Amino acid sequence: MSGTKPRPALLTVRQVKVHLRVNDRIIHAVDGVDLDLRAGECVGILGESGSGKSTFGRAITRLLPNVALAHLSGEVMFDGHDVARMPEAGLRLLRRRGGFSMVFQDPLNHLNPTRRIAAQMDEALRSIGDRHKLRARAAELLLQVGLSDVERVLRAYPHELSGGMRQRVLIAMALASEPRLLVADEPTTALDATVQMQVIETLRRLNRDRHVALLIITHNFGLVAELCDRVYVMTGGKFVEDADVFSLFESPRHPYTASLIAAGRRLLQPSARV
Ligand SMILES: Nc1ncnc2c1ncn2[C@@H]1O[C@H](COP(=O)(O)OP(=O)(O)OP(=O)(O)O)[C@@H](O)[C@H]1O
Ligand SMILES: [Mg+2]
Repeated sequence: MSGTKPRPALLTVRQVKVHLRVNDRIIHAVDGVDLDLRAGECVGILGESGSGKSTFGRAITRLLPNVALAHLSGEVMFDGHDVARMPEAGLRLLRRRGGFSMVFQDPLNHLNPTRRIAAQMDEALRSIGDRHKLRARAAELLLQVGLSDVERVLRAYPHELSGGMRQRVLIAMALASEPRLLVADEPTTALDATVQMQVIETLRRLNRDRHVALLIITHNFGLVAELCDRVYVMTGGKFVEDADVFSLFESPRHPYTASLIAAGRRLLQPSARV
């Protein structure tokens, strides 16, 4: 995945802070972080629970709760667009075609249990303004994420699918706008090991074959090692180190990173990728 040609910058984040107002308290969920991601790159954000990963993902895709509850400052530049200050109309355009999409943590909360997958895919496509040949496009997206027997998947209700299939349906929906950046928040958590590998393979193919840049948010170093070129380590709303995955694995500079690696080593064997 790490090609030799220098790739253009896609996302540049500078001194981003998110302050959340919770019961009259201010929480510094993201506290001044810088990040660079190039087109087609796969970058991880690794950190324990509560370190601010999801809040960061929502900040850079402008999916935070309203300003009374969450205040965003700093610079987020996506392909020359000033995302942090962009009005909603501009964001809608970016979300409609060739911009960024997010796959949220907790896939079950983001699928409607009472509606068939086909109806939910149609809705995802309509919401980005793609009204043509809905069913054919939905089928094509499901194939892209490695699902077979697509007609059955489209007819199914969410509970009729396995966890890994549901996760891939959500990835397919996020791909409807043909994003250049996909932010995936804990894409394999709550899946068993075999199914984790299927979702990892899906993401890897998107990155390798379709050149979608990935920002993978996780507490699992094994996932980062499987998938990412580089990683930022997050704790307490800050990035404490960033490095390419192999250097980080060989010689973590921060003791916190070493503890995350030790935990990840037990979950997946990073060496399997070499
Ligand atoms: N809606 C919210 N209400 C209250 N506090 C919140 C909310 N969202 C985030 N926080 C707080 O902000 C901080 C960062 O949370 P965030 O969800 O970004 O962490 P995370 O790294 O994604 O954790 P996890 O791995 O558990 O998903 C935490 O202290 C959390 O309690
Ligand atoms: Mg989270």
